[in-house]
Amino acid sequence: MESYSNKVMEHFKNPRNVGDMEKPDGIGHVGNPVCGDIMELYIKVKDNIITDAKFKTFGCGAAIATSSMVTEIVKGKTLEEALKVTNQSVVDALDGLPKVKLHCSVLAEQALKRAVDDYLKKTTGKGLGLPEEDAGHQCMHELPEELK
Ligand code: FES
Repeated sequence: MESYSNKVMEHFKNPRNVGDMEKPDGIGHVGNPVCGDIMELYIKVKDNIITDAKFKTFGCGAAIATSSMVTEIVKGKTLEEALKVTNQSVVDALDGLPKVKLHCSVLAEQALKRAVDDYLKKTTGKGLGLPEEDAGHQCMHELPEELK
């Protein structure tokens, strides 16, 4: 069985940026239909740059580690740069995840996209055009065949 990298363990044990954010500019809420885990990601935006990010995750260790890492990655990025962050880039920053846990990292990417979408809707009235409840479906696509 594949094991967790030291970085995953470290972020799981000492997650960065956990908790509520006062008056977030954008909120991304996603659920994973496979396991029922839930992630909420909050961002603060100033002059098109994500100045702060926090999260609350009710989920497995991999979901917590990827949430922690994604909040670290996006701080200081423009919204356009943040939208280019993929679950794979988060996984790479954590030195990998076991294959069966890759679907957990999709939650982090989706929560981030939803938070940016929420911010854009609130400020410009126009979001990214994400389909309702798409997080779960995309998550399923990431799953290895045997787990679908
Ligand atoms: Fe649910 Fe990891 S098992 S997100």
